[in-house]
Amino acid sequence: SASASGQTGVSDGFDPSADANPDSRRKNDHIRLALAQQQVPKRNAFDDLRFVHHSLRAVDQSQVSLATRVCGSDWPLPFYINAMTGGSAEAGRINAQLAQAAAATGLAMATGSQHAALRRPELEPTFTTVRKQNPSGFVFANVGPTVSPGQAVRAVEMLAASALQVHINPVQEAVMTEGDRDFGSWPARIQAIVAASPVPVVVKEVGFGLSRPTIERLASLGVRTVDVSGRGGTDFAVIENERRADRAYWYMDSWGLSTVLSLLTAGWPEPVAGVELLASGGVRSPLDVVKALALGARAVGVSGHFLATLNERGTNGLIDEIREWSVQVRALMSLLGARTVADLTASDLLLTGPTAEEARLLGVP
Ligand code: FNR
Repeated sequence: SASASGQTGVSDGFDPSADANPDSRRKNDHIRLALAQQQVPKRNAFDDLRFVHHSLRAVDQSQVSLATRVCGSDWPLPFYINAMTGGSAEAGRINAQLAQAAAATGLAMATGSQHAALRRPELEPTFTTVRKQNPSGFVFANVGPTVSPGQAVRAVEMLAASALQVHINPVQEAVMTEGDRDFGSWPARIQAIVAASPVPVVVKEVGFGLSRPTIERLASLGVRTVDVSGRGGTDFAVIENERRADRAYWYMDSWGLSTVLSLLTAGWPEPVAGVELLASGGVRSPLDVVKALALGARAVGVSGHFLATLNERGTNGLIDEIREWSVQVRALMSLLGARTVADLTASDLLLTGPTAEEARLLGVP
């Protein structure tokens, strides 16, 4: 099994000399550049949202349940390790360690895009380690809308996955030199993947947010769960721009809807019918988790922060962090008088700053 924070790549069975191909190099770039973004603490739209404090509304911490239900499954905790990696030796080691932390804490987890393994079967072990290290946990497979329905099914089978994430990342593709340019077929392809998938499908952004019309469109394609994955954390416009020699898209770092704004527009004037909401993008703390839950998310995904925690503190450090977040989410729910995740949606919230202005322009009172 993988070492706590080993940089050797020897004991874990992933051979770094296999990383010369362009897929593996891109995966290693993403890890390095995403970690660099975590070095700088970032203000984001969660800071424009505050709870109104009611001193006598708190309930006993022992009465608070952190359980939630996502894609028809019961989860013990309302947050999860969101899609990141796979497809290189380093990515395989990270996936093994993330999966060990998920198994130790009961957290759900996603792999990164499996396209590299669909193209190069020798890279499969860097993904399947997620299931090997966590045989009975909730695991998301991950593909984009360019794969065929058959490949999507193959990705699910590769991991014996509990559900399938389909990432929609047009901004990332546009900024990438080697990215896709043909986006027009995506809706029909998503519909075909949903129809073929043996497990529930979650359509997610990768840090640019989902607008209400996008969520309504996804609902019409048969999608029942979405992850808004908004602006405020890992920024793939910046990452892909830094991977270009010319940095041509230097101005794209403000693109996208924040996670808070996406959740607000998804919920007003009423929630989009038949769609279960997940949230991610810029979640830095247990307070951000609770804010996203209060805005209607069933569970909250974390990528960049958990990657940085693993990098700095190793697998045991990540396990400690997940346990600490569980303790603190319970403390915050008790302060807010919420015995359940659903109770949080009755919280009194104050919205200020640029997010309040944007929400008003989109018709959210
Ligand atoms: C990602 N993300 C991502 N998403 C996806 O659906 N497929 C993928 O392959 C990847 N790859 C990836 C690599 C790395 C290193 C990071 C940090 C992230 C996007 C991720 O799931 C999430 O949507 C965004 O990162 C926003 O969340 P954070 O990082 O702000 O918590």
